[in-house]
Amino acid sequence: MSADGLVAVTGPTGNVGAEVVRQLQAAGARVRTLSRSPAEASALLGDGPEHVRFVFGDAATYPEALDGVEALFLMRPPQIADVARRIHPAIDAAGAAGVRRIAFLSLQGVERNPLVPHHRIERHLRAAGVPTTFLRPSFFMQNLSTTHREEIRLEDAIVVPAGRGRTSFVDARDVAEVAAKVLLEPGHEGRAYELTGREAPTYAEVADLLSEVLGRPVTYADPTPWAFWRDRRSRGTPMAFVLVMLGLYTVARLGLAGRTSPDLERLLGRPPTSLRAFVHDHAEAWRA
Ligand SMILES: NC(=O)c1ccc[n+]([C@@H]2O[C@H](COP(=O)([O-])OP(=O)(O)OC[C@H]3O[C@@H](n4cnc5c(N)ncnc54)[C@H](OP(=O)(O)O)[C@@H]3O)[C@@H](O)[C@H]2O)c1
Repeated sequence: MSADGLVAVTGPTGNVGAEVVRQLQAAGARVRTLSRSPAEASALLGDGPEHVRFVFGDAATYPEALDGVEALFLMRPPQIADVARRIHPAIDAAGAAGVRRIAFLSLQGVERNPLVPHHRIERHLRAAGVPTTFLRPSFFMQNLSTTHREEIRLEDAIVVPAGRGRTSFVDARDVAEVAAKVLLEPGHEGRAYELTGREAPTYAEVADLLSEVLGRPVTYADPTPWAFWRDRRSRGTPMAFVLVMLGLYTVARLGLAGRTSPDLERLLGRPPTSLRAFVHDHAEAWRA
């Protein structure tokens, strides 16, 4: 990475991307956000970074967005399933534009799960030949303060079908800090990092923690997968997203989401943010 090399960030208005932009700026990097709505990116992140319109699946937006970019933070928007048509051509365009390094926001366990889209994207990235670092986070703590916020806030309940399975929650801000580091520092190309918290609580333990910090009882509802489906649909969650959630919570229910890794601590030189610290930081999100 040259001293004034340009770093571009996809998904800059999302959980991880917004924090990647902030971290890169704090490190003094030149940053360009690639958003469907540059105006929204500017409202959220200010005008320190440059904001350029970019739409996965609209190749006409690629040349201007990728021009002069040295390093790229690549994420797959959760709503994009057809990655061969909408993500892979963007990767090819990045290679053709001379991008020298990519950090890809993937998923824990992706190497063992060919069914998830991130698996195909990783394979495409390897074949595309741009040196890439694979970031494979576990479940984001932010799901509790976004997707599950209203049920906790208004119904004092966590409604997820994860049984007694453990989850090695990670703070998306920690993931972003790692992303900024591997984009700016040499030596991470070709590597894959599994990014998790240190602990892996059950959802019953998460509910206890929320009760303690918020000072009111929060329970873990533990619905069956079918009851979860009906509940989410009645809340208006799109069918495709409910299916993805069911897949993720079934992985947890089967006891396969609790694996912890030392990678994050090794890379950042400090322990990962604990769920307790996260809940304290975001307590206002769940105040009734
Ligand atoms: N949630 C978890 O627990 C978890 C755990 C591990 C991995 N992951 C992975 O992390 C990724 C999600 O990251 P996130 O939570 O930071 O995302 P997010 O908060 O859901 O944000 C999605 C971003 O995608 C952008 N976007 C949507 N459609 C687009 C399009 N057609 N073209 C260009 N940009 C588009 C949006 O930006 P604009 O609106 O500004 O365009 C937005 O910033 C997913 O791949 C997910 O599988 C999630």
